[in-house]
Amino acid sequence: MWKGRFSQDTSSLVQQFGESISYDWRLYPHDIAGSIAHARAQVKAGILTEEEFSQIRDGLLAILEDIKAGNFEFKTSLEDIHMNIESELTRRIGPAGAKLHTARSRNDQVATDTRLYSRTEIDGLIRAVTDLQNALLGQAERYAESVIPGYTHLQRGQPVTAGHHFLAYVEMLERDKSRLADCRKRLNISPLGSGALAGSTINLDRVQIAEELGFDGITKNSMDAIADRDYIAELLFVISLCGAHLSRLSEDLILWCSSEFGFAALSDAHTTGSSLMPQKKNPDVCELTRGKTGRLVGNLMNLLVAIKGLPLTYNRDLQEDKPPLFDSVDTLNLILAVNTEMIAAMELREKNCRAAASDPMLLATDLADYLVKKGIPFRHAHELVGKAVAEAVATGTPLDQLDLAAIDPAYGPEAKDVFSLERALASRTNPGAPSIQNVRAEISRWKGVLSGS
Ligand code: ARG
Repeated sequence: MWKGRFSQDTSSLVQQFGESISYDWRLYPHDIAGSIAHARAQVKAGILTEEEFSQIRDGLLAILEDIKAGNFEFKTSLEDIHMNIESELTRRIGPAGAKLHTARSRNDQVATDTRLYSRTEIDGLIRAVTDLQNALLGQAERYAESVIPGYTHLQRGQPVTAGHHFLAYVEMLERDKSRLADCRKRLNISPLGSGALAGSTINLDRVQIAEELGFDGITKNSMDAIADRDYIAELLFVISLCGAHLSRLSEDLILWCSSEFGFAALSDAHTTGSSLMPQKKNPDVCELTRGKTGRLVGNLMNLLVAIKGLPLTYNRDLQEDKPPLFDSVDTLNLILAVNTEMIAAMELREKNCRAAASDPMLLATDLADYLVKKGIPFRHAHELVGKAVAEAVATGTPLDQLDLAAIDPAYGPEAKDVFSLERALASRTNPGAPSIQNVRAEISRWKGVLSGS
């Protein structure tokens, strides 16, 4: 492609070192769409005749079909997807193909391709996250009234329902979707026409190209457009955060499925056995989700480190943006699909959950609230209940069996009524709190939200 200036061929070691076709071949549908839009603008600019445009378009569409069918030989010597396609086009159609690269550089081409790729993948990721939300919502409905302990510091805190717990993840995933949509908005502008870094002396209708490719607008500074990889960094961050949410869910499930907790069971189809210990049923999917999230975060770091020292505009380092991008997209897609299946099939051990939530200690805060309602300042109430808890611990007496009035006359005989799980949940009716009524209302709200998306 640059043979004019050179008298030696590229060393085969340099070819091997510099190629990106082994991974950027995946950009082919976007590269072809971009080239067709570019060629159409070249007609308007008087570079191509209608006849030449048709040859280019038909030639590119034929290449598209050949690649899809696996009938296209990618050549490492042609470095990347852009040169593989252009050179094959010219081989097939001759002189018209040689005109295609007018007023274009691989620098604006690759920026266009990766924006189109990211946009397509974001749409797919949003659908996949919605599927997982639906699986979580299904379990929230199934276990809307199942009481479980809620934890802080991994110490039992207060009773909630499993429905409320599942819905917490639906919330997180909704924020991930909104971040994906936000990232899509910012990246959906066309850099095509920015050339190598300084645009072109040939007037191409950049807006027409952008519209044909479904972009919402065009980039405003050719140097920024070529150097910019913010959209990839942003997407990698959003993917990492979504991974972090699913990694936290995994950790919950690993704990719930342990013999120590015994709150849940994953299906046989979503667990593995041990080659040595016959009794084992391991939550590998959860552990791999947690482990692969490390890769997602690593990919984000990989890109940030790659760009942080680059002067404007294009530097070959930028070719290294694609392996982390592709890997993160693929990995998150897999994580989402497998977790959707696994969550839909899991079961709660409701008896164990209820037994754990029935520890009267979980209602110590409710006991303090009871005193507050009798006019005692919360700090004082907290101390009074703390004394009762200390006595319960010291004497091995369950909190609800203590003679509370003997500890402090502020406790009336009705203090014991506090120790009802049903009552405790039923009185948590503030917005966002886990009363069963609230959880049911949230479930129907989410059904509406998710079916509309
Ligand atoms: N394969 C290259 C990349 O991914 C395309 C752009 C090459 N541009 C260049 N000036 N060498 O970044």
